[in-house]
Amino acid sequence: MSSILITGCNRGIGFALIKNLVQKSNNSTQLIATCRNINKAEELRKLQEANSNVHILELDLNKFENYQDFSKNVERIVQDKGLNVLINNAGISTKFTRLNLVKVDQLVDSLTTNTVAPIILTKTLLPLLQKAAKIDPANNKSKIINMSSILGSISLNDAGGFYPYRCAKTALNAATKSMSVDLKSDGIIAVSLHPGWVKTDMGGKNAPLEVDTSAQGIINIMETITEKDSGKFLQYDGKTLAW
Ligand SMILES: NC(=O)c1ccc[n+]([C@@H]2O[C@H](COP(=O)([O-])OP(=O)(O)OC[C@H]3O[C@@H](n4cnc5c(N)ncnc54)[C@H](OP(=O)(O)O)[C@@H]3O)[C@@H](O)[C@H]2O)c1
Repeated sequence: MSSILITGCNRGIGFALIKNLVQKSNNSTQLIATCRNINKAEELRKLQEANSNVHILELDLNKFENYQDFSKNVERIVQDKGLNVLINNAGISTKFTRLNLVKVDQLVDSLTTNTVAPIILTKTLLPLLQKAAKIDPANNKSKIINMSSILGSISLNDAGGFYPYRCAKTALNAATKSMSVDLKSDGIIAVSLHPGWVKTDMGGKNAPLEVDTSAQGIINIMETITEKDSGKFLQYDGKTLAW
């Protein structure tokens, strides 16, 4: 793969993905890591300083007016090779919410960041994904990985609540399925991915999974998925989840 773009890389799973990819990949894979504020992304900056293939681009996913300029910056890095992998990782969660407590702002904010942003960012970067897929159509599929959550599974929901987060991730899953259908003829694979319950700011310290274990599983999935996996809901360890 010549290029991988991951959103939300200043902390959590996004940072672990970039860190593990740096250790694994050779310098020829361009790793494009986004964050909202480069000045506050100290660890990420250190990775960039030590590795010339790490590129940091600022992107606030809720500022849709900046997407076209962002895409031009991505193009400057990947040039005529296009973009091989897009991991829509950045996301937000709210605390457990019962129906009587849920607020309009929580629902709208969660949908904006967890659903609208990954769809519109994928739309914006589509020409670059198409370009990469065209270079070697027999072997080279471009890949979209939408970071979902098991909480977005309708059939596995036996605890209720979490309206903002569940609804946004379920909607993202619906978008993944449509992307897999719409982009099949372009040679672009789309999957939804549950990273596990991971020790990050979002997952909390009681989460059973170390962030590097999750990241290594996600990288393995990214490297091994083929056309037949497109449109699936996968867990970090390769298990297929029910929608
Ligand atoms: N951790 C888990 O147990 C778990 C389980 C299931 C699914 N997930 C999913 O995995 C993904 C990563 O989660 P995580 O645990 O790494 O979360 P995290 O530690 O809370 O990190 C979230 C990342 O998303 C970024 N982000 C949030 N809103 C953004 C916006 N509007 N624009 C740009 N960046 C934004 C954050 O940037 P700032 O630092 O600027 O806020 C941060 O880099 C999310 O999609 C989450 O829903 C996580």
